[in-house]
Amino acid sequence: MIWTNLRTSFSKFAGLTDLEPMSKKPPTKKPPTKKLYGSGVAHPAVFSEAILPVVVQLLRPEHKRVLDPFAGIGRVHSIRELVEWEMTTVGIELEPEWADLHPDTRVGSALDLPFEDGSFDAVVTSPTYGNRLADSHVAKDGSVRRSYTHDLGRTLSEGNSGSMQWGSAYRDFHRAAWLETKRVLRPGGRLVLNISDHIRRGKRQYVSSWHTTALIAIGFELVDAARVETTRLRSGANSSARTPSEMVLAFDRVD
Ligand SMILES: C[S@@+](CC[C@H](N)C(=O)[O-])C[C@H]1O[C@@H](n2cnc3c(N)ncnc32)[C@H](O)[C@@H]1O
Repeated sequence: MIWTNLRTSFSKFAGLTDLEPMSKKPPTKKPPTKKLYGSGVAHPAVFSEAILPVVVQLLRPEHKRVLDPFAGIGRVHSIRELVEWEMTTVGIELEPEWADLHPDTRVGSALDLPFEDGSFDAVVTSPTYGNRLADSHVAKDGSVRRSYTHDLGRTLSEGNSGSMQWGSAYRDFHRAAWLETKRVLRPGGRLVLNISDHIRRGKRQYVSSWHTTALIAIGFELVDAARVETTRLRSGANSSARTPSEMVLAFDRVD
């Protein structure tokens, strides 16, 4: 059943002509609630409750060893409780404050993963999207704005894609990250990717299509796709024109 729904989404997606109308909803007047984790750190872009069950639908019992190279606060580890088979999950996250929130996440870089070739059956991840969360403003107390810098409470570490706006540096970074991901994934292994487009200066930025093309170019095949309606942050510039859904895409390593 899910396959039918996913195929509908995918057939639109495959032509890279997904022109879903932008939301006309006015921005909410209420500031977004900033949830604090652990000893009091926020994060602006964790896997939402709506995304995780869709991710699980795209995994199979053969996917026992799972990595998230952009692990954030470590939501990937909760997948273990949602599947019906035994699974181990490992997270890599650049920022210690976020990595420390889960014992199975280590501090490290997605560009230099501390694992042997072919160590994982699957990678489940959500990279940064190159959207306004990459802004590096100095927030005042009580600011309703959200960004990686603002939520972490300090300048991001060197090499954090959370400071990269959609553009050539963002794309170079992710080409390198996907090659490193491929290295640690066994042949035939699966990459489940949560990604989203955004609006910049009134134009939709086709971030999801770019990741798809980049992954196919290095030896992945797109095997499944789902569109998920999510409650996105609605404040700041373009808040009335945010793309209202995210994609969850499944790729298999085919070479
Ligand atoms: C979209 S968030 C992922 C959130 C995660 N899915 C969760 O549920 O918490 C992307 C994360 O990638 C991290 N990141 C960015 N560049 C990185 C790098 N070079 N190596 C490892 N992590 C990095 C950011 O710090 C951020 O926490």
